[in-house]
Amino acid sequence: VGYAMGHDLTTVLLALLGLFVALQIVVRVAKRLVHIPAPAYADVFLDSPFRRLWQPPAKIIERSGIAPGMTVLEIGCGGGAIARHVARALGPEGRLVALDVQAKMLARFRRKLDRPANRDIGNVTLVQADARELPFDDETFDLVYAVTALPEVPDRPRALAEVKRVLRPGGVLAVTELIVDPDYPLRRTTIRLCTEAGLALDS
Ligand SMILES: C[S@@+](CC[C@H](N)C(=O)[O-])C[C@H]1O[C@@H](n2cnc3c(N)ncnc32)[C@H](O)[C@@H]1O
Repeated sequence: VGYAMGHDLTTVLLALLGLFVALQIVVRVAKRLVHIPAPAYADVFLDSPFRRLWQPPAKIIERSGIAPGMTVLEIGCGGGAIARHVARALGPEGRLVALDVQAKMLARFRRKLDRPANRDIGNVTLVQADARELPFDDETFDLVYAVTALPEVPDRPRALAEVKRVLRPGGVLAVTELIVDPDYPLRRTTIRLCTEAGLALDS
């Protein structure tokens, strides 16, 4: 009986894995054909303890070189899963502009900021705009970062040219991806696009 149950469990797990892989393939192919931003409900996963365990915000902050006092832009902030942590890391002297193309994502972020637990965050400005046309002056930011967002932008060369324009001389673009994202790009693709936009590879 024990063997049969173990056997059944293996079959179920393999079936679930197969379903996950099949879904990934279908979504990845579909997203190559039509550019659709992540739906707002994806934030339920993006801002979950599971995601934080997998992709700890503190690690992203450290690897991106985000430090207190900086003026920072997040491209595709979604529901603010990472931005909340970045805002705190920037401290009262720092400033975060959280930009997203979708009003629904920004509304989710706004609701989170209004919660009592987040009332200490007072250095974030939410902006609804397209990464291909950043509504900021040249050389505004010390650092621009994007977490599992850049591949969703339909014209990445144009968005990266915009990033370069709004970065101060010596400024940094930090890109983080998540492997389960249906838009997950190869590392070398991101490096090539950034290099073509005139950005030099740091690490
Ligand atoms: C997968 S979500 C990631 C959200 C957030 N960075 C995180 O890690 O939780 C990608 C986000 O990029 C945004 N996005 C897609 N295309 C965009 C564009 N052209 N300009 C600005 N944001 C865009 C989507 O609306 C979505 O909120």
